Amino acid sequence: MCSTPIHRWEVPGLPDDVELFIKREDMTGCALSGNKVCKLEFQLAEAIRTGCSVIIGCGSRDSNQCRTTAVAARRLGLESHFLIKSGDMGPESLGWQSNILLQRLVGAHLYIVHISDWTEKAVIARMDRLADDIRKRTGKKSYIIPPSGYDLPGLYGYFSVFQDLISQGLFDKYDDLVGPSAAGAMFAGLAIANYLTGAKIKCHGIQVTYPAEIEHHRLQHVLTDIGLSEIRSHDIIDVISGYQHVDVDADDVERDYDVVVDVAMATGVILDPHYGARAVRGLLHQLNTNRHRFKGNRLLYIHTGGIFSVYEKRMQDYLQKKLGTARVVAWEDGTSVPFVTDAY
Ligand SMILES: Cc1ncc(COP(=O)(O)O)c(C=O)c1O
Repeated sequence: MCSTPIHRWEVPGLPDDVELFIKREDMTGCALSGNKVCKLEFQLAEAIRTGCSVIIGCGSRDSNQCRTTAVAARRLGLESHFLIKSGDMGPESLGWQSNILLQRLVGAHLYIVHISDWTEKAVIARMDRLADDIRKRTGKKSYIIPPSGYDLPGLYGYFSVFQDLISQGLFDKYDDLVGPSAAGAMFAGLAIANYLTGAKIKCHGIQVTYPAEIEHHRLQHVLTDIGLSEIRSHDIIDVISGYQHVDVDADDVERDYDVVVDVAMATGVILDPHYGARAVRGLLHQLNTNRHRFKGNRLLYIHTGGIFSVYEKRMQDYLQKKLGTARVVAWEDGTSVPFVTDAY
């Protein structure tokens, strides 16, 4: 595990009396960056320990989970296969951009599954069938990473992030830990680690995908699995709701693109549009309207990575429309300096 930096973060729209800091889990590496990397360290170790040479996973077309898994697997000499959720079954439709480009570059095998067949149960059944088939055809054993990579080995990855946070002064310097949450695997690990070390800070996961109760339900299961059934999920994590995507393909994604641009222009930190931008939008809204839910004024935001999503075609089309050629001029004659407006 590598330690990632923390620095002050002056996001536009922050109330004056709030001190916001950012933990750069986006800086775990380049192709291997984001909040999945620490989890994969334990999952892939388990795969190797149990004699698996093939990794099977699943995710959406622009999945950070699949991208990091494919890259990490290849680094370790493992083969990777992914079920990819899509509304279009044509192999060309996956395109060659953002996360999927990197998966293709490292030789991942991709199986498109129609969105209408995509339930957790059906996807797990397909992954089992794929593992069976690979074993029969090649004799190779597969390690299956469940949807969203939410499993017990992965939990240790987030315990190790928490350990890193403690070594960076978490308990003395901050009151609240906050960040984007989807399946809730990351905040499950962080909230359990916080509980086991005396619940000194308050954990808030800003839900960007599912209803809050799904995150609580999953965490309650994990608590039971690890022998902490007396703990109630609601007591160890505040799931902030109301900022979920209706659908990542819906038009409201443009509001998140705006946040990506505003935050990048003001702070130089690049958020991903689907998780980070939405979470920051939710965080600012809560800080400005619902302040009592935070324990104090010193907040630490976890940047979960996902930078390759800014290379999505949709985002590029949007940027072309929003920024156009602002701040770009041709300078032909080398004498008088052309005027570049700051406006966009
Ligand atoms: C960039 C990014 N941030 C946050 C999350 C949410 O993590 P979790 O599913 O563990 O809640 C994900 C999950 O896909 C992600 O890719």
